[in-house]
Amino acid sequence: MDLNGKHIVLGLSGGIACYKAAELCRALIKEGATVQVVMTEAAAQFITPVTMQALSNRPVYGSQWDPREPNNMAHINLSRGADAILIAPCSADFMAKLLHGRADDLLSLMCLARPLERVPLLIAPAMNREMWAHPATQRTMAQLRADGTTLLGVGRGEQACGESGDGRMLEPQELLQDVIAFFQPKSLAGQHLLVSAGPTFEAIDPVRGITNLSSGKMGFAIARAAQEAGATVTLVAGPVALATPRGVHRINVVSALEMMEACVQQADQATVFVATAAVADWRPDTAANQKIKKDGSGQVPHLGFVENPDILATLAQSPRGASGELFCVGFAAESHDLLAHATAKRARKQVPLLVGNIGPATFGQDDNALLLVDAHGATEIPRNSKLALARLLVANIAKRIAQQSA
Ligand code: C5P
Repeated sequence: MDLNGKHIVLGLSGGIACYKAAELCRALIKEGATVQVVMTEAAAQFITPVTMQALSNRPVYGSQWDPREPNNMAHINLSRGADAILIAPCSADFMAKLLHGRADDLLSLMCLARPLERVPLLIAPAMNREMWAHPATQRTMAQLRADGTTLLGVGRGEQACGESGDGRMLEPQELLQDVIAFFQPKSLAGQHLLVSAGPTFEAIDPVRGITNLSSGKMGFAIARAAQEAGATVTLVAGPVALATPRGVHRINVVSALEMMEACVQQADQATVFVATAAVADWRPDTAANQKIKKDGSGQVPHLGFVENPDILATLAQSPRGASGELFCVGFAAESHDLLAHATAKRARKQVPLLVGNIGPATFGQDDNALLLVDAHGATEIPRNSKLALARLLVANIAKRIAQQSA
C-alpha cells in the first residue's frame, strides 16, 4: 500500500465537488493512510459530517471552538501529527483565504498554524470555469505556489452549473495518484525520460498482422515511477489498452517503424531512454493494400519478411547515447539462461544497463522479477509488483546518472 503510515488531514471547503471527497477519503484509506477530516461550514452544506466520519472512522472537526479538545486548540492538535494537509475541494473563496492568511474558521486557522517546513499543504481547486479563469484566482494561485503550496490542478469538462470548461475538481483516483506521487523521492528531478512500451503490430494486410503478447505494463509502470520521481516523461506506446499514467506525455504508435520514428524524434530532448517495448523483430516485406482473400482453392499466401531496425541499439550507438548524455537502458525477455543472454545482449546493444526478465513469467502479469546487468555483473531484484520494481529501477537509474556526472 502506497500510503502506509501516512496521516493525512483532509480538508473540505464549500463546493459541489464535496461529493467526490467521500470517494477520495476511502481511496486514501485503502492505500494505508489514516485520514482526519476537517470541514468548513460551507462544506457541510454539500455533504454531511456523518458520511465523512463513517468513511474516515474518526470524528469530523468543523469548529475552532470544538470542546472535545481538552486544550480547545483543535487547529494545533490536528495539524501537528499530519504528513500533509490536503484541501479537496478547495473553493475560490478558500484559496483567497489561504492567500491572505485569514484564520476565521478551523480549516483556514489550521492551515496558517501548520509548521511550514514539516506539514505540506496540497490543494485541489474546484470551481466554475469563469471563477477559475478570473485574474484574481490566477493571481491567488501564483502566490500560493510561491508560498510553497502544492497545486494539484483541475479537470476539464461539464460542470454542475451546466457550463463546460476548466475548473472541475480532479477525480478521486487522479488525486490519489497525485498524493502518492507527492510522497515519492524526487530522484529524477530535472531528467527527461523516454520510455518505449508494449508490443508492435506489423500489418500483413488491412485486417491482419503479427504482434506479440507484451502487455506494456512494465513500461507503463516505469513511466509512472519516473514521473513520480520528478522526471519529465514521454511514453511511446505500441497498441495496448492501458491508461496513461498521470502527467505523462504519451505517443501512440503501431508498427516498429513508427516506434523508431517517434523514439528518434523524442530522443533529442531525453536524458534517459528505457526500452521496454517488445518490438517485432521482423515485418512482412509488403503489406497488402486490400485484404488477402481465401479463394477456396486451398492455396496459402506466402509471406516474406524483412528485419525491423533496432531502436535501442540505434539510440545507444548514436553520439548522445555513446557519450552517456542519453543513458540507455535495455530490457531482455528470455525463456531460459537469463544471465548469459542478458549479458550478451548488453554487449551487443552497447548499453550501460540491461534489465533481464523471464518472458513467459511476466507477459500480462502484474508482478515480475528483474536481473540488472551492467559492466560489473548482475544484481537480482526479487519478485514484486511491476510498480514497486519500476520504483526500484528508477532509483537505481538515478544513482547511476548521479555517479556518471559526479
Ligand atoms: O534483441 P531483443 O529484442 O531481445 O532486445 C530487447 C531490447 O531491445 C529491449 O530493450 C527492446 O525494447 C529493444 N529493441 C528495440 N528495437 C528492436 C528490438 C528490440 O528497441 N527492433
